[in-house]
Amino acid sequence: SDVNFKFKIVIVGDSSVGKSSIIRRFVSHEFPEVLKSTVGVDFIVQNLTVDGLSVKLQIWDTAGQERFRTIITGYYRGADAVIFVFDKTLRDTFDHIDEWVYEVSQYAAEDVLRILVGNKSDMQADVSVSEAQNKANLIGIQYIDTSAKSDINVSCIFYSIARELINK
Ligand code: GTP
Ligand code: MG
Repeated sequence: SDVNFKFKIVIVGDSSVGKSSIIRRFVSHEFPEVLKSTVGVDFIVQNLTVDGLSVKLQIWDTAGQERFRTIITGYYRGADAVIFVFDKTLRDTFDHIDEWVYEVSQYAAEDVLRILVGNKSDMQADVSVSEAQNKANLIGIQYIDTSAKSDINVSCIFYSIARELINK
C-alpha cells in the first residue's frame, strides 16, 4: 500500500523519564517492567492511518544519559517533530526541559514541530499539570500528560503530531 506521508520524529529528555517505554507502549502495546537504558539512538518505524491517510513514522529514540549528548545532536537534522519528555515525579527532569529545548533549537530546523510530554502520571506527581501547561505555553507548544505504564495518552502524542504535520 502507498504511504502518503513519511515523518521523522526524535524523542528526547533526561535518562529514565520513560522515552523508550512510551515508544514500546505505542508500537508493541506493552510495558516491560525492566527496560535497558538506551545506548546512543534506537530507530523504530510505525505505520498509522490518520483521517484515511497512510503515515509512516520514523521514530528515533535517543539516550538521555549525559555521555551520549554529543552523538544525539547529529540526529536532530531533518526531524519533522521533536518530543520533549520529563518525569512528573522528578522535578529536575522538568527543569532540564529548557536545556533540551535550547539544544534542539541549535541543531533542528527552525520550523520543527515540538511537543512537551509529562510521563508517569500513574504516580504521585512532583510537577503539576498546570505547571507543565505553563511551561508549554511559554515555549509555545502543546502539552500532553501521559503514563506509559497505564497506557494513558500515549498514542495521543503520535496521532497529534501526525495530524499537525499532515496539515502543515
Ligand atoms: P534512557 O534510555 O536512559 O534515556 O531512559 P528512558 O527515558 O528511555 O526511560 P525508560 O523507558 O527506560 O524507563 C525508565 C524507567 O521508568 C523504567 O523502569 C520504566 O519501567 C519506568 N517507567 C517508564 N514509564 C513509566 C510510567 O509511565 N510510569 C511508571 N510508573 N514508570 C515508568
Ligand atoms: Mg531509553
